[in-house]
Amino acid sequence: MTTSLDRSSASAPEPRSDAGSRFPVDFLWGVATSAYQIEGAASEDGRTASIWDTFSRVPGAVHNGDNGDVACDHYHRMPEDVDLIAGLGVDSYRFSLSWPRIQPGGRGAVNQRGIAFYDRLVDRLLERDVLPWVTLYHWDLPQELEDAGGWPARDTAYRFADFAEIAMNRLGDRVRWWTTLNEPWCSAVLGYDTGRHAPGRQDFGDSMAAVHHLLLGHGLAAQRLRETAPEPIQVGITLNTTHALPATDADADRAAARRADGFGTRIYTDPLVLGSYPTDVVDELAARGVRLPVQHGDLSVIAQPLDFLGVNYYTTHYFSGSPEEDAEASAEGPAESSGEGSGEQAADGVALTRVVPQGYPVTAMDWEITPFGLTGMLTRLGADYPGVPLYVTENGAAFDDRPDQDGEVEDADRTAYFAEHIEAVAAARDAGADVRGYFAWSLMDNFEWGYGYDKRFGIVHVDYPTQKRTVKQSGRWFRDNIRRNRQG
Ligand code: FCB
Repeated sequence: MTTSLDRSSASAPEPRSDAGSRFPVDFLWGVATSAYQIEGAASEDGRTASIWDTFSRVPGAVHNGDNGDVACDHYHRMPEDVDLIAGLGVDSYRFSLSWPRIQPGGRGAVNQRGIAFYDRLVDRLLERDVLPWVTLYHWDLPQELEDAGGWPARDTAYRFADFAEIAMNRLGDRVRWWTTLNEPWCSAVLGYDTGRHAPGRQDFGDSMAAVHHLLLGHGLAAQRLRETAPEPIQVGITLNTTHALPATDADADRAAARRADGFGTRIYTDPLVLGSYPTDVVDELAARGVRLPVQHGDLSVIAQPLDFLGVNYYTTHYFSGSPEEDAEASAEGPAESSGEGSGEQAADGVALTRVVPQGYPVTAMDWEITPFGLTGMLTRLGADYPGVPLYVTENGAAFDDRPDQDGEVEDADRTAYFAEHIEAVAAARDAGADVRGYFAWSLMDNFEWGYGYDKRFGIVHVDYPTQKRTVKQSGRWFRDNIRRNRQG
């Protein structure tokens, strides 16, 4: 394995500001990944299929027909990858557990060989002084649970709580930080409404049922984690809250942004923190003949105390509520990831709102680069949901990296993206938001869902044919930024 950490980072541009010095020494710096995106070893040691194994085999579902069979081969290269993480000088590593590796089929016995992998990973991280931050569910539902109804079925929430207990039993003596779900919006809306993500279903009512059962699953899992934890733990959830602004001051645009905010943010944050679904969202659903399948007591289960709220941020959207001739209806547009997390996706193919590009520079995902939106999102969450510590659990950018002949990547664009967004986090803190950590997405290039291996988000470059890892300029900058921050 080659890393570039020894190379001088003199060539890296200085961050636009001395962002590092604006954070306290206990601010948590980390890098993030997820299981299906990096592990590979898809059928090893008893792992069974997840919905992403199945979906990626549907012709046309994933760019280039890519899948996660090998990915970054992290399952076999884990020790070296942990060394790489430690070399970046981060405090924490956020990774997810593969449910079908640990509990094949999603119910019943634990697969000892599967959980042993995470046991080794956690031990190795701790040996290298890196805090393990576990996400229980980052989209890889066991296929058998999908066959039994998936997230639109209530039983999946109970299966998820059982899985949480299994993970706690085996890892809870060493893992303190637990995230239940990553971006339930993506699971529910991309998975069951637009069909852009696994399992690729397209039914608006089902997607709204999935929202409720994901939240219920979160609440049940949070309860179970706390009941079974051998030591005090921190439990939270990660959302890709939609930062929705009106395209103009017109009433129709303000209403459109409000609707996007309702379906992209408040339908999650309100029940989680306040214990109720937002009335405007419930009313709109009722008008469309959809009822969330809430049973007596569900909302108090969902509203478990949150030790933190994880926020994944990539871009901001401006919404218009009026139709425009020839305008591309946003509900038709690609919506693969959190950058596209917006309410219009929930509009069942009806373009009630549309996203109006603002002409900001874009990343390789075509997502506009809007660091001010991160400040806006964090301060808004801090104001509307006070008392919940915030962590940026993902932020980063895909660019068309051009490695030189040695595989080095001088990604000044990504470096600038990080510098600006970290500065935006500092601004949110200055404005009073209780933001306590920041995780770069991603540790390394990986399987970017519907985009396959085409989009690279890593601060470490992966040459897939050889699996060689090379720290990019942005990775060196990130390491140096943490160092500067520690020096105060
Ligand atoms: C988020 C996902 C993550 C990655 C980034 C780009 O929506 O959580 O897995 O795909 O977007």
